[in-house]
Amino acid sequence: MAGEIILTIAYGLQIQEHDDPYVAISQEAVESLNAAVVPGAFFVDFLPVLKHVPEWVPGAGFKRKARAWRALALATVNTPFEGAVRAIDSGDFTPSFVSYSWENLDASGDLEEEKEVIKGTAAAMYSAGLDTMVSIGASCILGFLSNPEALRKARQEIDRVVGTERLPNFGDRDSLPYIIAVTKEALRWKDVGPLAIPHFIDVEDEYKGYRIPAGSIVLPNAWAILHNEAAYPDPFTFNPDRFMKDGKLNEDIKDPASAAFGFGRRICPGRYMGFSAVWITIASLVAAFDIGKAVDADGNVIEPSYEYTTTGLIQWVEFLYPLSMSLIEVRPVSSAPLPFECSIKPRSPQAEILIRETLDAEYF
Ligand code: HEM
Repeated sequence: MAGEIILTIAYGLQIQEHDDPYVAISQEAVESLNAAVVPGAFFVDFLPVLKHVPEWVPGAGFKRKARAWRALALATVNTPFEGAVRAIDSGDFTPSFVSYSWENLDASGDLEEEKEVIKGTAAAMYSAGLDTMVSIGASCILGFLSNPEALRKARQEIDRVVGTERLPNFGDRDSLPYIIAVTKEALRWKDVGPLAIPHFIDVEDEYKGYRIPAGSIVLPNAWAILHNEAAYPDPFTFNPDRFMKDGKLNEDIKDPASAAFGFGRRICPGRYMGFSAVWITIASLVAAFDIGKAVDADGNVIEPSYEYTTTGLIQWVEFLYPLSMSLIEVRPVSSAPLPFECSIKPRSPQAEILIRETLDAEYF
């Protein structure tokens, strides 16, 4: 779902239902990106002179990694872009960010540079938007497993507003505040970027009397903000109701988007799209499926572990304690649930028809 949304919006490409090559390349590249953006993951981040060490020298493994990752990164940037340009040249294409930008190239500027910018921007959408949406969507399912009452309330709202004859759409958004509350809670409960992305301080700054010298790296602790008990009581419980009051969204509760999408100039540019995509996914899942814990062959309920991938935070702790330097391994900065079992079944024969109809629908 996430791959299809981004590939279509960025490039106008339709993906194959199984083993899509564009999605596969991007998955691999995103894994390397996740690892590479952890500051301190490579000693060369701190001692740039190490970049001149030849590749065969013991300890220069980072150079071999960098070479392989560069090839992957280039494939991610080039392959879908070339696919989009081929389609545009043939005249048979789905409108997308690339096709729109292509039609609006500034002929008086440097065309080659403009094309590189379009290519890079589309690739940034793809590499940053995919994992994040998947992670939040999965967290939401996990949240429903931990709190079936939330699923029941979400279902009640959808049935009341949308009925069971169709799936929800964006026109229903304002009438489905509980689904918005569920999306906010998924963003907050298990934020995708607990430390956002490290920010580099260009110019000396001051915050509440603390001097932050130029050249510092600041790790914004989004996780602490989103689990602050004063703002979100009982912060480790998945509880969409915290955002509701008298059947409406309670605007007095701090919006998790203020931290879950990062900060300042580097705040996530895909935040509105990401939120909407997760919202429509949750609304559709709730409308069409029964979601519950899986049951094993003997009828025992399988409890999910609620475990997540480890993030760059651990990486940093290890770095700060040099004695454990040898323990350093590369870990991603983004967080996602480890695979978990659950049961997702069409909630009724009518729901099954609705689901199957979407497979044949022409959206573009
Ligand atoms: C629910 C889904 C999403 C979440 C939770 C999320 C979260 C984040 C976070 C925490 C950052 C780091 C911000 C910082 O450094 O302060 C980020 C950056 C970014 N995101 Fe998202 N994101 C989501 C979806 C998307 C989508 C759909 C796109 C593109 C279509 C996107 C594109 C980007 C880009 C390009 C950056 C890097 C911005 C920069 O460094 O200047 N994101 N995102």
